[in-house]
Amino acid sequence: MTKRPVIIDTDPGIDDAVALAIALYSEELEVRLITTVAGNVGLEKVTKNALRLLQFFGKDIPVALGAARPLIKAPIDASDIHGSTGMDGFEFEEPTKDLVLKEHAVNAMRRVLMESVEPITLVPIGPLTNIALLLNMYPEVKDKIAEIVLMGGSTGRGNMGVMAEFNIFADPEAAKIVFQSELPVVMLPLDVGLKALVYPEDSEKLKGMNETGRMIYQLFQKYRGGSMKTGLKMYDSTAIAYLLKPEMFQVADTFVDVELSGTLTTGCTVVDLKGYLGKPSNAKVCIDIDADMFKQWFMESLQKCN
Ligand code: BDR
Ligand code: CA
Repeated sequence: MTKRPVIIDTDPGIDDAVALAIALYSEELEVRLITTVAGNVGLEKVTKNALRLLQFFGKDIPVALGAARPLIKAPIDASDIHGSTGMDGFEFEEPTKDLVLKEHAVNAMRRVLMESVEPITLVPIGPLTNIALLLNMYPEVKDKIAEIVLMGGSTGRGNMGVMAEFNIFADPEAAKIVFQSELPVVMLPLDVGLKALVYPEDSEKLKGMNETGRMIYQLFQKYRGGSMKTGLKMYDSTAIAYLLKPEMFQVADTFVDVELSGTLTTGCTVVDLKGYLGKPSNAKVCIDIDADMFKQWFMESLQKCN
């Protein structure tokens, strides 16, 4: 089977960690590069977390450090959700820095894209700063991008503001650049993340499943993205789920823009499902997910890990 080449841009993050586990052990994906971006916590911490995970999994994927701050806004973080390290709950061994590239993430992405024979899918599961910089600095890479499958935004309410989701709210200007890029963009919004849940019975199964399951189980004890009782939200895994099992989603082709200067709504993704703005569609937005299918896929995927 030929594997689908991807670059994952991430800010681990407990749900990022789970998404990375699934992607790295998938037989259908070839993760060519991991780039890090400030988001859930600062750049140094999220990079350390990516390295911790790769060492834990025993996967030698190059890692490039990206933006330490958003394009314009002051940085925010989500340490209230993921803990002060960004991945509280498990004692990882101190990671080596062997996998860290000397290049900045934007240059590493450019190189990997340009060197590739086939187009590569970008999978951003954090703020979109690195991707926006890449598209602005090196527009020639556009022909080498198969698709951008991102977790971010919302078709309804937000989790950072009334109408804004964290990844977009953290760097709305970057998100606007991505949605206006004229590249094929797939958006996995908060709304579907809210239905991609892990309940206590499955979390308990993870504990004894394998080493990865045990690690994730422990991270889940500290994760505040939902509660154990009502379900932990696996936002970032929905982007990987879309790559591997798109049939679990209902998708709408529509126009999306990002509010930059709303007095109350900065960072809101305006998803024009009813076509009020009369603009051509620029994104595929996942508007629903088969929650049972997700649950089954999620557990089966983690079973493939060590
Ligand atoms: C997004 O915000 C982060 O905290 C998660 O990792 C996810 O990418 C959900 O809004
Ligand atoms: Ca994330």
